[in-house]
Amino acid sequence: MVYHSCNLSDTEGIAGQVAKRLRPGDCIALDGELGAGKTQFVRGLVRALGGDARSVSSPTYVLLHIYACADVQMFHLDAYRVAGADDLEAIGFTELLAQGGITVVEWAARVRDILPEQTIHIRITAIDESSRRIEVVE
Ligand SMILES: Nc1ncnc2c1ncn2[C@@H]1O[C@H](COP(=O)(O)OP(=O)(O)OP(=O)(O)O)[C@@H](O)[C@H]1O
Ligand SMILES: [Mg+2]
Repeated sequence: MVYHSCNLSDTEGIAGQVAKRLRPGDCIALDGELGAGKTQFVRGLVRALGGDARSVSSPTYVLLHIYACADVQMFHLDAYRVAGADDLEAIGFTELLAQGGITVVEWAARVRDILPEQTIHIRITAIDESSRRIEVVE
């Protein structure tokens, strides 16, 4: 499915559509260049799932943020600074996936070897300053 976003709130709305179909234990892989809107997309997911959207930021240095949503936890990871899949494995990625939360990974292509087979892949491409192409492959 390909969506077109004209602004931030569109991107959050598209994330809200994806959030409706999520089940506990799902993993989302987010890819796109710096500033594409990956973290904004996560903000939309958290808001739609009843969490505090203001607490969402890129976990670039700490690797993992955890947000309590209404019925589920969200594990937000960022693979930008990791050398590869082993680094995420070392912080317990496999155990996280087994917690029944929603796991979302920015820069997921860097760790594609450890993503579960059923991962939902989302690629965000900047068209211009405020529009984005958002491709969701489930
Ligand atoms: N339609 C849009 N959707 C999402 N973000 C948009 C849109 N238009 C403009 N922006 C801007 O693009 C930027 C996206 O930043 P964001 O932190 O979400 O990117 P990112 O992909 O997570 O980057 P990084 O790889 O650095 O973590 C924000 O400054 C946001 O305001
Ligand atoms: Mg980000």
